[in-house]
Order: sequence, then C-alpha cells, then structure tokens
Amino acid sequence: MKNYITTPIYYVNGEAHIGHAYTTFIADAVARHSRLKGNETFFLTGTDEHGQKIEESAKKFNKPTQEFADEISKTFKDLWDEFGISYDYFIRTTDEDHKKGVQKAFQTMYDKSDIYKGNYEGHYCISCETFFPETQLIDGEFCPDCGKATNVVKEESFFFKLSKYEDKLLAYYEEHQDFILPKSRRNEVINFVKGGLHDLSITRTTFEWGVKLPEGLDDGKHVMYVWLDALLNYITALGYGKDEKNMDFWPANIHMVGKDILRFHAIYWPAFLMSLDLPLPKHIGAHGWWTRDGEKMSKSKGNVVLPKEVADAYGLENLRYFMLREVPFGQDGDFSQRAFIDRINSDLSNDLGNLLNRVIGMSGKYSNFEINSVDVQKYHAKELNEMSAVIANLEPFFDNLQTHRYLEELWKLFSIGNKAIEEHAPWVKMKNNQEDQALATVALIANILAKASLMLNCIMPTTTSTIADALNFEINTESYKDLILEKNLLKTFVIKKVPPLFPRVEEPLMGQPEPKEEPTEPEKPKKLKGKKESTVEEDNLITIDQFFETSLRIGTILEALEVPKSKKLLLLKVDVGEKEPRQIVAGIKEYYSAESLVDTQVCVVNNLKPAKLMGFLSEGMLLAAKDKEGLSLMRPEAPRKAGSSVGLI
Ligand code: MSP
Repeated sequence: MKNYITTPIYYVNGEAHIGHAYTTFIADAVARHSRLKGNETFFLTGTDEHGQKIEESAKKFNKPTQEFADEISKTFKDLWDEFGISYDYFIRTTDEDHKKGVQKAFQTMYDKSDIYKGNYEGHYCISCETFFPETQLIDGEFCPDCGKATNVVKEESFFFKLSKYEDKLLAYYEEHQDFILPKSRRNEVINFVKGGLHDLSITRTTFEWGVKLPEGLDDGKHVMYVWLDALLNYITALGYGKDEKNMDFWPANIHMVGKDILRFHAIYWPAFLMSLDLPLPKHIGAHGWWTRDGEKMSKSKGNVVLPKEVADAYGLENLRYFMLREVPFGQDGDFSQRAFIDRINSDLSNDLGNLLNRVIGMSGKYSNFEINSVDVQKYHAKELNEMSAVIANLEPFFDNLQTHRYLEELWKLFSIGNKAIEEHAPWVKMKNNQEDQALATVALIANILAKASLMLNCIMPTTTSTIADALNFEINTESYKDLILEKNLLKTFVIKKVPPLFPRVEEPLMGQPEPKEEPTEPEKPKKLKGKKESTVEEDNLITIDQFFETSLRIGTILEALEVPKSKKLLLLKVDVGEKEPRQIVAGIKEYYSAESLVDTQVCVVNNLKPAKLMGFLSEGMLLAAKDKEGLSLMRPEAPRKAGSSVGLI
C-alpha cells in the first residue's frame, strides 16, 4: 500500500515553536508506523514562503525577501534534521518547480471556467492571510481568528468559484464520515459550508511577493493568493506540473494540520481538487492548540516554548512521548514543566525504565545475560494472553490519531510485566532450584519489552532501538510481522546491559537555575567502631536508584472531609508545592478526626498512579506506621515547606 502523509508547510516569519513541533511529531509518528508496517510511504514537510506577511517581515529585518525566506526556511529544515524527522521531501514554495505546478493548476481551473475576474472589496487579515466578510469581523474591524486589526482591501481580483462546490462538498462529507479527524470537528466544517460559501479571491495586486499568474493571464499586476499557492504544495511535491514522478502517491492518506487551518484544508483544498479533477485526501487530522502554563504563547509575552530548548533539557524522545501522551488529539494542550516531569518520572522512568532495568538485572544474575529456549507459555499463559489482547486493541487508536489512548493502552503491557515479577518472584524460584520458572518470567518480560518497543518505535525511535539492541533484535518490518502480526515470541536471546534510559528528573530543567550551596571543608570523621560486613539478607535488596524512584514530599493538609458511607476513608486536599493541591483519599478515619488534620503536615508518596476509592480520585498516599495499638502518620519533626522532598541522609 502507498501512504502519503504531510505536515502543513510552515510560514517563514519566525522560528519553530512547540506547536510546529507537535504537528511534525505526530505526522512523523504516522509516517514511521506506516513504514514499519511495510507500506511504501512518502512523508512531506516544508515551508510556506510567499504572501504579504513574509514580505513585511523581511522588510522589518531590512533583508531582501528571498534571502530572509532562505534563512528561516533553513532553520526549520535544520531543526527537523536535528530531530531526526523522517521526511522524504522538504518543499519550499519558492522552488521553481512548485511555482510552475501552481501556474498549471491555475490555468486548468481557469480553462474550466472556475476562475473569473472581478473586484474584491472587503477586509484582509495579514497575520492569517485571510479575507473576511464584514459580518464576521469583531467590532466591524478585528479578525475573528487572531483578533488583530484587519485592512480594508479594494482591488481587482481573480475569483475561484467556490460557491459552485457547496453541494458537492457537503455530499463528500456525508459519504466520508472519517474525512475529518477527530470526528468532533466535522460539524464545524459542515456548518460553515451550509452557511453559504462565497467565491474566493485568489489573487492580490497590492504587493509582489507571490507566484505570478500563468503566462497568458499574467498582466504584471496580480500575484497568487498565498493559500492557493500553499495548498498546492501537496501535489507539486509529487511532481504535479512537472514530471508527475510521484503522483501515484496521490491522494494523500492524511494531511496533519492545526485546528486553525482546518477550514482551508477541509473546504478550499477539496474544492480546488474537485476543480482539477483530482481525488480528495482520505483524512484531514486537525489537532488542538498548545498553550504554556495555561496561557496563549506569544513573542510579546516572552512565553514561547522552543522545542530545541525543551529537547536539549529533557531529551527529544521524552518530549515526543509527552506531547503525544498528554493531550487527546484534537483538544488543546498545556505545556507545563511539572506535567512533563511527572510523565518522565512515572511513565518512562518507573514503568518502562524500571522493567528494562529489571530484565537486565535478573538475566545477568540468573543466567549470565543469556536466555535459551524456555517455556514461557507453560508458566505465563495468563500474561501472554493479556499481552496479546492489549496489542490486538491498539491499532484503531493509532488509526484515529488518538495517540494518548494508544500510549495509555500500550503502557498496560508494562503493568502486566511488573505485576508478573511481583507475583512470580523469580528470586524465590532461583533459591528453590526452579530456574526454568525464573527464566520463563525473565523471558516474558523480554518479550513484553520487545513487542512494546515495536509498537512504540514510531513515537520513540531511538529509545526503542536501544531497547531492541539490549534484547538483541532489530526493529524492522520483518520483526513487526514476526512478533506483532504473527504473535511469535523471541526465541533465544542475549541481553545487553544499557545505561538507564530515563534518569529521574527532580526539578524543572528550564528557566532560572537553583542557587548552588558553597562547598565547605568536610570535617574529619571521628574514629568509630562499626560493622565490617553486612548481615542484612541479600535477596530483595534495592539500590539507591530504586529507592529514588519513589517521590516522597512533605504536604500540608488544607482540607479534610469524611467520605460518606465509608468507615475508613477521609478525603484530603493536600498542598504538595504544586499549582493545585492534590486530592488524597486516606484510610485513616478510625485514627484521626477530619478537623484534627487540617493545617498539619504529612509525608506524601507523590508519584503513585492516581486511583479511585469509593468514587473519589486519589492522587497520592500518606506514609504511616501501624501496629496492633494503632496508627501514626509520619510527619516532619519541625514544619517544612509544602513540597519539600523527603530523601535519604
Ligand atoms: N503556512 C500555513 C500552513 C499552510 S499548509 C498548506 C500555516 N503556517 S504556520 O506556520 O502558521 O502554522 C503551521 C502549523 O503550526 C499549523 O498547523 C498550526 O496549527 C500549527 N501551530 C501554530 N501554533 C500552534 C500552537 N500554539 N499550538 C499547536 N499548533 C499550532 O498556518
């Protein structure tokens, strides 16, 4: 099967921010997954370089427009290269081939009488490069999309007969229910079309930075409207208007776009294609908008998140994971370092990283890193079935671009693995001379990690390749077929040690660094008599790193209420130094009254997966000591700042 996947082409009036990176990451994941499944795949990205906005930006920088466009286009290309984005072609709308293709399309639509000359009178938003009828403006002047002031435009213009395609478009949406993804965005497009489509002004005369009209129509006055020029990139990149070399990739499988430019892709672009007698793309995927700490990003506020800065601080693949896991596709998402750190520590470090460390540790200890054929099926039929069921349900989430659900489901594999280790306690089996059983558990974990890596590869390509390397297999279409489609297990394998993939992050890594303490001369230790050898039982000991996988913090109880109908539970609001207090449901009602707890401090296990108790979400647990006589909460000896971490001395 041939699959054609595109990102929007980015305006060259500023550097890439986190929103651009998000579109590119999802499209890249879709392209990689398509390739892994063995599809012939063409992945396109590039830059949108014409129009009044770019012309004005270049002027501001006192640069010739082409030189300015060259520079910014290069920053996008360099960034995607540094990020390992797997594009097959990077198009620029200032490429000569592209311009020729656009002219051919214009001529074809003109010959079909879909283009005519008239006069445009209305309002234009330069920032959005969009015309608006007066009725849509805010306070008769401001752009309904970005809120900036519009300009009154009165000029001769060529028009595209968009109105002619109204019914055809509506019929197409009806027949192709999944043309627009997520489906929740369909109605907004349908209502827009039903509201009546005006013919579209597709040329401008008040500036020069655009594609000229085809030879016979060019009068030196008009240049093409930037959106007509830009949308056509999706076919000129395949050779439309030139050699048509890759036109067999058309129609695109998916155009990935932000919700702000859905209208252009779901209305104008299909209408242009209908006019050109070309098939329509199969899907338009419209994602939501990213904000930072709840606020819209803007240069003037100085809160724009730069993907390179984040990737350098937290790791590129952690960023890809975070963005695709955190937000349901189509909804707006917020970039906060706290949320990002929590994802790294809980999902990546605790769940995935921990399982990998365990398999490496156990295989080293039990069998010198080599596992020959063991009967996983015999001892772990239950887990193997659970694993297959999770994998069998994964693909539809990805196909619908619900990457957050896809990853959430995928993570169930790691719970199956971690649970199997607890339940089967291979260290006990080793002690009891049941080596085959212990090794079967190790092999189960290796298989879980191998299969999960194949499914996670499109989102974390380098990390999963490292995991595959540690497990001595390669991620490719054959192994996908073998381990995922045919559900086979790894046969013989040698496990390699790799350094921990996801070091825990304790403090935000971007912004002001924490002041460092001045080092002081250490006091010489007094001579003490102590034990020379440990008598603590070796088995089941943990390393200091394992201890630090648990995040313990001091919390101040702000509110405490009794959970109705429960003998044991209290509902607490606890300040753990985050923006919002945590809600914690604690089984301490028999020992403490709600009132006595308010304003006291406790010690909170901060990185537990949230759970529901009697219908209430609990986002942590409290440390307590219990014996026959009763229960005492662990509290700091003297008050500490809420959120202070509880560690080892
Ligand atoms: N040049 C047009 C696209 C033409 S496609 C034929 C354009 N360029 S853009 O650079 O302004 O935006 C490119 C993409 O980035 C769009 O999909 C847009 O939705 C996305 N984002 C820009 N800011 C964003 C956020 N703050 N959050 C998420 N994505 C956003 O539009």
